[in-house]
Amino acid sequence: MAARRGHGHAVAGVNLPVYLNGQLVAREEACLPITDRGLLFGDSVYEVIPVFRGAAFRLRQHLDRLQRSLDAIRLANPLSREAWLKAIASLYEPTAGADLAIYVQVTRGAYPTRAHRMPQATSPNVIAFASPIPARDPDSANPGLRAITLNDIRWHRCDIKSTNLLPNVLAQAEAQQRQAEDVIFVRDGRALEGSASNLFIVLDELLLTPPKCDEILPGITRELVLDLARDAGIAHAEAGIDEAELARAEEIWLTSSTREIVPVVQLNGEPVGQGKPGPHWQRMDQLYQAAKERNRLAAFSGNRHEN
Ligand code: PDD
Repeated sequence: MAARRGHGHAVAGVNLPVYLNGQLVAREEACLPITDRGLLFGDSVYEVIPVFRGAAFRLRQHLDRLQRSLDAIRLANPLSREAWLKAIASLYEPTAGADLAIYVQVTRGAYPTRAHRMPQATSPNVIAFASPIPARDPDSANPGLRAITLNDIRWHRCDIKSTNLLPNVLAQAEAQQRQAEDVIFVRDGRALEGSASNLFIVLDELLLTPPKCDEILPGITRELVLDLARDAGIAHAEAGIDEAELARAEEIWLTSSTREIVPVVQLNGEPVGQGKPGPHWQRMDQLYQAAKERNRLAAFSGNRHEN
């Protein structure tokens, strides 16, 4: 698939085009009609797939979750698995070894009139593009981040990865205003997840994360952290976390495909544990980095998507 003309963002000297309904086009040329239902109603779902040093990470799991989101919004998947793999590969394979986030969005499409009712014949729009993930500096210690808790004002289907992200955007703004970098959503006294991440805590030496339900996104990184904990014999459980437990956690982490595992060192202005990334985080981060490396070696030995 060759880019039609013009150039988008560049990584390592390679221009990053946009995938738009089967074609690679330059970013500035990638347009959708103003009546696209993704724009008018947030009638669309998305995925963010990480690529580490040129190898897509947990791609199968991301495409499975995309299918789940599409099913949940009653939208037929416009592409076969093979077509998805080809489209995504066309965005990262030319960049040779870069760390990238591949953003993928499927909207229900554009129609002549604005109407809430779903159209009978659907022609979805598919867009995808790659953005650089800032490389980790192996020599500098992770400083961790400051988070605040906020009442979760989102809808009750946070398990669907939909583009209705206004509450998440507003939460980030509130965090910024209060000199914090992120938010932990709390509903009915239960801490659920971050504004774009899943939540883990270490409490009394036990690693805990809220169980999968309609109120959180089933994170791909969350699943991997649980797998790694199991394989390494780290005591862990999927269990509700109430606000009091969050407040006395020895460690708090937020996980996502692009930010990996991030330690929270301050919560609502109070230090978490010693106020610096803790030993359990150090260990899990090492396990996670090793999993990334195994994935990369498997990808380049032809045994793709092992992890
Ligand atoms: N967000 N919870 C929410 C609300 C999220 O938006 C995300 C990811 C996660 C973590 O899921 P995963 O481990 O599969 O990335 C949990 C992506 C990265 C985003 O919106 O950019």
